[in-house]
Amino acid sequence: MSRRILAVLGSAVLALSMAACSGEGAGSGGNDSDKPGDLTIGVSMPTQTSERWIADGNSVKEKLEAKGYKVDLQYAGDDIPTQSQQVDQMITRGADVLIIAAIDGTALSGQLQAAADAKIPVIAYDRLIRDSPNVDFYVSFDNYKVGVAQATALLVGLGVQNKDGSKGNASGPFNIELFAGSLDDNNAHFFFNGAMDTLKPFVDDGTLKVKSGQTKIEQVAILRWQQEAAQKRMEDLLTSSYNDGGKVAGVLSPYDGLSRGIITALQNAGYRGDMPVVTGQDAEIASVKLINDGVQSSTIFKDTRLLAEQAVVAGESFLQDKSPEANDTETYNNGVKVVPSYLLPVQTVFKDDIKPVLIDSGYFTAEEVASGQAKG
Ligand code: GAL
Repeated sequence: MSRRILAVLGSAVLALSMAACSGEGAGSGGNDSDKPGDLTIGVSMPTQTSERWIADGNSVKEKLEAKGYKVDLQYAGDDIPTQSQQVDQMITRGADVLIIAAIDGTALSGQLQAAADAKIPVIAYDRLIRDSPNVDFYVSFDNYKVGVAQATALLVGLGVQNKDGSKGNASGPFNIELFAGSLDDNNAHFFFNGAMDTLKPFVDDGTLKVKSGQTKIEQVAILRWQQEAAQKRMEDLLTSSYNDGGKVAGVLSPYDGLSRGIITALQNAGYRGDMPVVTGQDAEIASVKLINDGVQSSTIFKDTRLLAEQAVVAGESFLQDKSPEANDTETYNNGVKVVPSYLLPVQTVFKDDIKPVLIDSGYFTAEEVASGQAKG
C-alpha cells in the first residue's frame, strides 16, 4: 500500500515538474522530447508460460525498437501483485506510454490512476482493463466473433454444419462439454457468449447434449487459463458423467493451452482414433502440430504480428499527441466508460488451412509445424 502511495506521489511530482518545465500539462508521459530515442514505452505482459504472450511481447518490442523507441518489457508470471509492481515501476521510471495485457482485468485501477496523474496514456492490449476511467485505448480482436468461430468450428468438426454455413450430414445427438477461460479476463465472457449464442439452437433441438449439465460460465471456467486445471476438469467430467459407456463427441475449448490439457485427459482415458472434436485459439505451435497430426480439430488464428503493429500505431499516435484511430467505439464498455478500440479479424484454422494461413504467411515454417516447436 505504502509503495503504491509512493508511486502515485512520485508520478504526480514527476508530472508536476514536467509540466513546470514545459509550461503546460504535457500530452504524454514523463518526457517532453518527441525524439523516439528519448521516449520509453512500458510493455506489461501477463506470463511467459504461454507461447503467445512471448510472441506478443517480442513483436511489440521489436516493432517499437525498429522505430527507435526504448522499450521496458516485463512479464508478470501470472501473478497479480507482480504485475501491479511492474507497472508501478514503469511509471516511476518515466514511461511515456503504457501497453498492458492484464492478468486480472480489474486489478490495476490504482496503477492506472497513477499513470493518469502522470499523464501517461494507457493502451489495453488484447485484454480490456475494467473498472477504470484511465484506459485510453484498446487493441484486440473481435472477441465475440472468436467465440462464434469456435462454436462454428465445433459444428463443422462434428459434421452438423458445413464450412460454407449450410446444413451438414450429421444430425447427432452428440455429447459435448464446454470450457471457458479465466473469469477475471473480460475476453473469456465474450468468447463464451459468442459460442453459446451459436450453439444454443443445436442444444435446444437436441442435436447437441451437454452431458454433464454444466453450461454456465461459472461452472466451466478455468482460472488463469491453466492447462493442468483444464486437464483435471476433463478428467473429473469423464469420471462423473461418462462412466456409463457414453462417449464425448466434442469439446468447446477457448484456448489452445486448455485444449492440450483436455486432449491429455481424453488420451489418458483411452480416446485415440475416436478423439472428440476439440476446438482452440491462438494457433500455438504445439497445437498446430496436434491439428496437423489429426488430434486437435481446429484453432482460431489471431495474428499477433498485426496486434503488435496496432499497439505500436496507437502508442505512436499518443506520443504525437493525437488520438489513435478506432474502428469500434461501442462494444467495449469497461464498467466506467466505452473504451475506443481497434479490433482485428480472426481466422479459423483446420488442418487444410495450416499451409495457406500459417505457413504461407510466414507465421510458422513447415518444419516448425512438423516438430511442434517454434524456433523464434
Ligand atoms: C485471452 C486471449 C486469448 C488467450 C487467453 C489465454 O485473453 O484473448 O487469445 O491467449 O487469453 O492466454
